[in-house]
Amino acid sequence: MMKTLLTSAAITACAFAASAQTVGFSQIGSESGWRAAETTLTRQQAEERGIDLRFSDAQQRQENQIAAIRSFVAQGVDAILLAPVVATGWDSVLEEAKEAEIPVVLLDRRVDSSDDLYLTAVGSDLVHEGSVAGQWLVDNKPEGTCRVVELQGTTGSSPAIDRATGFRNAIEGNADIEIVRSQTGDFTRTGGKEVMESFLQAEAGNEICALYAHNDDMALGAIQAIKEAGMDPGDDILIVSIDAVPDIFQAMADGDANATVELTPNMAGPAFDALEAYWADGTEPEKFIQTESKLYTQSDDPMAEYDARKDLGY
Ligand code: AHR
Repeated sequence: MMKTLLTSAAITACAFAASAQTVGFSQIGSESGWRAAETTLTRQQAEERGIDLRFSDAQQRQENQIAAIRSFVAQGVDAILLAPVVATGWDSVLEEAKEAEIPVVLLDRRVDSSDDLYLTAVGSDLVHEGSVAGQWLVDNKPEGTCRVVELQGTTGSSPAIDRATGFRNAIEGNADIEIVRSQTGDFTRTGGKEVMESFLQAEAGNEICALYAHNDDMALGAIQAIKEAGMDPGDDILIVSIDAVPDIFQAMADGDANATVELTPNMAGPAFDALEAYWADGTEPEKFIQTESKLYTQSDDPMAEYDARKDLGY
């Protein structure tokens, strides 16, 4: 009897082990606090669901992502998560994954490939995020002309393209808001600081009314540069950015930043939900699973928002 029970327990355990799914994750790198949180939450989600996650850090290089996807295909994983560093150049490798019948889920950024080359994309409406930031400036700028400087994200990435478009859509028709300088800071704090220093030098003697940064990390670097130049960020220069990382809430509480648009780092939750349904019975998800974009300002109790996020892996 005992032997029979042990045998059936072993069979059950084997069946469970055999059904554990393997997912390859090609992550962009660790350019921002938001990216670090996305990586942490993806690992946590995988662990909670008993998914074997194979992680590859591309260190910002598309060629590393393409090599990682080919390696995942060769390993015969059950799915691939891809956070694509840039929007173009994915057709061939996505076709290879499709031929191998491995579903690919895009996380947080988009590609310009045909949507039948991936199962679904999880992310926010990136144009809308830029519009929310632009509308905040329209509603909150001081009287008169407002000269804006813009720190763009990684050149060729979908958030850099779409957040620039959305912001311009929102300020269009406001003749007194003008973008006077725009340059990439590559989504990094160091890049934001260096480019803001060059903006301040180039604009010496001219008033800058606001900074629009495509992410909070660049805004935080720029805040440092503005302080070192003897000015008061959040007051002399309004600061609006995107992500809602804990440090931007600290900056808001200190009066150094004015507004941010939230991008949730939990892209993996909806991605794994879609994959689990697909693995179970072939359910095809919508091609785009949209996450929320919420505006936060200094009046939203920034320290409470900081506390709510500080242990999430940012
Ligand atoms: O793709 C999402 C963007 O990438 C985040 O806004 C930014 O912080 C990250 O690097």
